[in-house]
Amino acid sequence: MVGVTGGIAAYKAVGVIRGFVLAGHDVHVVATDAALRFVGKPTLEAISRNIVHTDLYEGVAAVRHVAIGQAADLVVVAPATANTIAKLAAGLADDLLGNTVLATTAPLVIAPAMHTEMWHNAATAANIATLRARGVTIVGPASGQLTGSDSGVGRLAEPEQIVREALAVAVPQDLAGRRILVTAGGTREAIDPVRFIGNRSSGLQGASLAAAALSRGATVTLIAANIEVAAPAGATLVTVGSTAELAEAVASHAKLADVIIMAAAVADYRPRDVADGKIKKENQGDGLTLELVKNPDILAGLGHGRHGDEIVVGFAAETETDDAALLALGRQKITRKGADYLVLNRVGWTEGFTQAHNTVLMLDKAGDIVMEASGSKLSVAHRILDTLA
Ligand code: CTP
Repeated sequence: MVGVTGGIAAYKAVGVIRGFVLAGHDVHVVATDAALRFVGKPTLEAISRNIVHTDLYEGVAAVRHVAIGQAADLVVVAPATANTIAKLAAGLADDLLGNTVLATTAPLVIAPAMHTEMWHNAATAANIATLRARGVTIVGPASGQLTGSDSGVGRLAEPEQIVREALAVAVPQDLAGRRILVTAGGTREAIDPVRFIGNRSSGLQGASLAAAALSRGATVTLIAANIEVAAPAGATLVTVGSTAELAEAVASHAKLADVIIMAAAVADYRPRDVADGKIKKENQGDGLTLELVKNPDILAGLGHGRHGDEIVVGFAAETETDDAALLALGRQKITRKGADYLVLNRVGWTEGFTQAHNTVLMLDKAGDIVMEASGSKLSVAHRILDTLA
């Protein structure tokens, strides 16, 4: 939950909300009436992708004044004005935000923004000390140009910093110091300058893995092949198109990685010849035959050619509908690829690719099932990382 209060920095809350959304989180905004004088409700709704709540007396049947706080895993108030900070310190509940904060058991993070004199005022300092003593995390304020011509301490911390520090509070930093390389999306093999052979992978599972690893403190490189989703802020992003480009990018980044997760759907074959110009119908008969040659197996190369004690994780997308046969395919695949773990999921016209949810099981080298998960791709990503951690 992101609380937005009424200061000029409220427009920057849009960046904070966007940061959480791009990191894969479901964001619910509670804005004070004063906040809505600085930033429009439609903006907050569009960016958060959820209805924005302001009124304590709206939706009373849903007991909203406690429901939002109870449902939250993390509560962030950005910007927090001097007035809101005073209210939070006193435990006042005269608006929806105050009720929400009192009703939550989730960690609370506040990002103050105000003029320097207000920040240094003894009342504000005492309120901040009270909140800190209660375990509230304070991000910023930063020093710099303020609203007028003056400058000093009181600027809202940058949205990226607020998102990063808030997630660090909510999520265990069990991957701190680990370097994780994730591939995502689907490779495309050119037929001619305008056409390609590709697959339906959107890159959401790979991007969610990158986002989840970042939020747990890892240093993440995301090699993205034609992804249709946003890459999480904070990852080193390498964009590739074809399998050859993916192979080259993996080769240059894998040596620095402690964990390599091959979530990308890699084209197994590519056209032997790529036409220089667009293939024209009038030059063909009633049919068109493309000769395909096999691409290198990147995962097998990583699995069988180790540079150290890195963990190599493969994905296997299978259309097999029988559970036992699916498992058997996964066991053969992990052996063939030499991977340490294989995340097995069923794909089909309506399963796996392009979907928001995923159902997977994870095999270890011995072929034993070490994890089973079903849910949003972000929650599945966390379960995979739990196993690796
Ligand atoms: N993979 C790879 N290089 C390839 C093909 C696949 O690195 N040329 C990786 C994928 O990133 C994935 C795993 O291997 O992590 C399994 O991909 P999948 O397409 O399920 O397996 P294939 O080896 O292509 O076998 P098949 O298509 O015959 O099931």
